[in-house]
Amino acid sequence: RSARIVLSPDVLVAPVPRRLFGTFVEHMGRCVYDGIYEPGHAAAGPDGFRADVADLVRELGATVVRYPGGNFVSGYRWEDGVGPRDERPVRLDAAWHSTETNEVGLHEFADWAASVGLELMEAVNLGTRGVAEAADLLEYANHSGGTALSDRRRANGRDEPFDIRLWCLGNEMDGPWQIGHKTADEYGRLAAETARLMRFVDPRVELVAAGSSNHEMPTFGEWERTVLRHTSGLVDHISVHAYYEESPDDPASFLASGAALDRYLDEVAEIIDEVGARAPDGSPVRISVDEWNVWNQTRWNEVDKPRVFTGDWPVAPRLIEDAYTVTDAVVVGSLLITLLRQAERVSMANLAQLVNVIAPIRTEPGGPAWRQTTFFPFSLTAAAATGDVIAADIDSATLPTARYGDVPSVDAVATRDGDVVSVFVVHRGLDEPVTVDLDVAGLTDDATAVVLTAPAGADRHATNTADAQPVAPEPLTIERASADSIRFVLPPLAWARLQL
Ligand code: AHR
Repeated sequence: RSARIVLSPDVLVAPVPRRLFGTFVEHMGRCVYDGIYEPGHAAAGPDGFRADVADLVRELGATVVRYPGGNFVSGYRWEDGVGPRDERPVRLDAAWHSTETNEVGLHEFADWAASVGLELMEAVNLGTRGVAEAADLLEYANHSGGTALSDRRRANGRDEPFDIRLWCLGNEMDGPWQIGHKTADEYGRLAAETARLMRFVDPRVELVAAGSSNHEMPTFGEWERTVLRHTSGLVDHISVHAYYEESPDDPASFLASGAALDRYLDEVAEIIDEVGARAPDGSPVRISVDEWNVWNQTRWNEVDKPRVFTGDWPVAPRLIEDAYTVTDAVVVGSLLITLLRQAERVSMANLAQLVNVIAPIRTEPGGPAWRQTTFFPFSLTAAAATGDVIAADIDSATLPTARYGDVPSVDAVATRDGDVVSVFVVHRGLDEPVTVDLDVAGLTDDATAVVLTAPAGADRHATNTADAQPVAPEPLTIERASADSIRFVLPPLAWARLQL
């Protein structure tokens, strides 16, 4: 069992879009309340945000944060979250059958995002609201002053504009579960008119039209075509949402999720070209994968997760708190490989979500915060993938999968920043190790490598919990095979990063 990777450091594929390492904070479950924000916690600062969680967010190395939803945003009134806290209304959140206290809103979240180094990507409500409210929020956030809305921001304690550049025009409007669900024509028109007015208010904004909620939607394809025809010339990006999960007795297909995402992105790129959809600057509309992750939505595979729509209207209930395994982490690593490989067409991506809700970081109220298994491929990739994606030729055996046919058992992508080449490799095989030969001109003896795989004595279902975190990257041994090549052995089911 062997594979060969040949890198061409002088063949640049595309600059690494650093926004590829975005994340997502929704007012959902315990992502905000009892997640990043828990005023009673010993680690909370005077603003109520947990310093231990903020430290982990910085370590994760994300670049952008999408906010405040998700399905939540389609029923959200942004005005509820600004102004004196004791005057903010408590509302039903019909998207997640929860109670929203509005303790955290735009001001608190923007300050927190800045403090952890995240660029804010704000979503507007195109479910229950429309053009006027979106433009109002933009004026409130970005106009310097001297108007009712911008002066209201100043009266609420923020003199300088928030200067938010990235805006999502609604969320998953193709989904029947969405508040204010629309047809492609209805949404396309609304998105276009919202974009037009937002650009009049602030021409510097970058806008994301909502694409399909997933590749299996019956309207996928036609939705993108219709929305892009309406919004061409007005939006910069179209979104892709992609969640993957393991089906019973089919780990091979799950491990091939990266190949599935590659095909999904290729199809959306083809539609952009077919429609000739252009951003305002005349370049082709790019893809924003603004929700992606592993998410075990099927009951058989759920760990300790209550159903969403039961009981009354709790504040910050435990929703979709997936406990991720080594297998999940390897899939997350391989999805990042796909996103980097697609850097020519993909402008940004958001790991959904950040804390507790299908998240790389978990917390307990009054208790610890810890790194899930999926934290590591994300943080290691975000830290090293800078500069340009370079050409990589991969020769590997294939694995049969029930859902996607034969897929390569080894996949990889590489970046180069000055003299440093970083390589991200996944081994999807479950049975045997694979010996990988990696060829690249100009090798020095400074190579370092880490691998994420099942810890000794554990299997692919190993997970990190509040009490014990056995899953973490370990050093990977590499040997020099020749002047221009190295060799290393990846165990079954592994993700690795090399820096050469
Ligand atoms: O991330 C969880 C949910 O998944 C989001 O609210 C929604 O947009 C998607 O369906």
